[in-house]
Amino acid sequence: MTGGAGFIGSNFVHYLVDQTDHQVLVLDKLTYAGHRESLDGLDPERVELVVGDVCDKDLVLELVDASDAVVHYAAESHNDNSLSDPMPFVHTNVVGTAVLLEAVRQFAKRFHHVSTDEVYGDLPLNTPEKFHEHTAYKPSSPYSASKAASDHLVRAWSRSFGLEVTLSNCSNNYGPYQHVEKFIPRQITNLLDGGVAKLYGAGTNVRDWIHTEDHSSAVYRILESGRSGETYLIGADGELNNRDVISMILELMGKSPDEFEHVADRPGHDLRYAIDATKLREELGWEPKFTSFREGLADTIAWYRGNEQWWRPQKAATEARYAKAGQ
Ligand code: NAD
Ligand code: DAU
Repeated sequence: MTGGAGFIGSNFVHYLVDQTDHQVLVLDKLTYAGHRESLDGLDPERVELVVGDVCDKDLVLELVDASDAVVHYAAESHNDNSLSDPMPFVHTNVVGTAVLLEAVRQFAKRFHHVSTDEVYGDLPLNTPEKFHEHTAYKPSSPYSASKAASDHLVRAWSRSFGLEVTLSNCSNNYGPYQHVEKFIPRQITNLLDGGVAKLYGAGTNVRDWIHTEDHSSAVYRILESGRSGETYLIGADGELNNRDVISMILELMGKSPDEFEHVADRPGHDLRYAIDATKLREELGWEPKFTSFREGLADTIAWYRGNEQWWRPQKAATEARYAKAGQ
């Protein structure tokens, strides 16, 4: 698999080690977003980390040849970074996916592509409309456009060369090992540091939250039972606006729910994401385990409280980047 030292990828490695008998070979570049420590404590007989780039053709050929199936998580993943410096997103997310597909084609391996609901753009606020597998692509940011491009490459390689592929597009994940640049861990670690929670704009933007362990179980179910060539949307009916999430974090951390600061909004900020996961639920019988966002969030806060040594090294540089953007 690729990207196994990042947030969702490392949670998938933990899931595979805990719930299956698979051997896991991780290819990860260890960018600013990748952490070897996220795999600490896992049996070295089961998990091997190879530090390298998904764009490195020779290395990718060697590792794909040695694997039964490839699950592709590696990406540049943060919208705000894609606004300040888009080219790494095109390189890793588009070129990197093409390099992997070529190796998968050469060795005829099973491929699962992990993607995002952001490829569909955004939905209006206060409507019952949701994204589904046939929603038209309309990405807004360099990040989501690069992920949309990668999805198109996967479908084209599947149709043209008969590769055995599946795709999934998931909504916003939360849980342990998420980089402190992202919304939820940024607020938790700001408060743990005695600082202030930061809300972009008015905070009416809606995200559809899913615990990352539920994302892992969904990807594994698709890998095992998904139909080749098919796309599955992953979501757990977790729609909330950012203001409500920030207030919940504040309350759970013993603060007043309005003790946050409004900061500059994200340019082109998507209004609302919402997933209709009927296909995944009905066709593959998948269900989320974390049905209470409040409880999942409380667990996540406890994890950041107990794992300062994991997040501390990221914090100062992340906040320095935000300060430059007035956020
Ligand atoms: P992340 O930024 O936490 O981790 C990305 C990982 O990829 C890091 O370990 C990084 O070192 C690695 N990486 C980056 N460039 C690489 C390269 N060129 N070669 C090899 N490794 C490289 O990201 P995440 O939030 O864990 O997202 C993982 C995947 O899930 C991405 O494809 C993302 O688009 C998708 N996704 C994320 C979410 C979310 O809420 N975070 C939701 C849906 C889908
Ligand atoms: O929907 C799936 C996507 O979710 C993934 O594809 C991306 O990789 C992942 O980063 C995430 O994208 P978002 O842009 O939605 O996530 P982020 O954590 O950056 O922001 C969530 C919301 O919170 C968004 O509306 C912006 C807002 N926000 C963010 C930060 C960092 C704030 O209000 N304050 C903040 O400090």
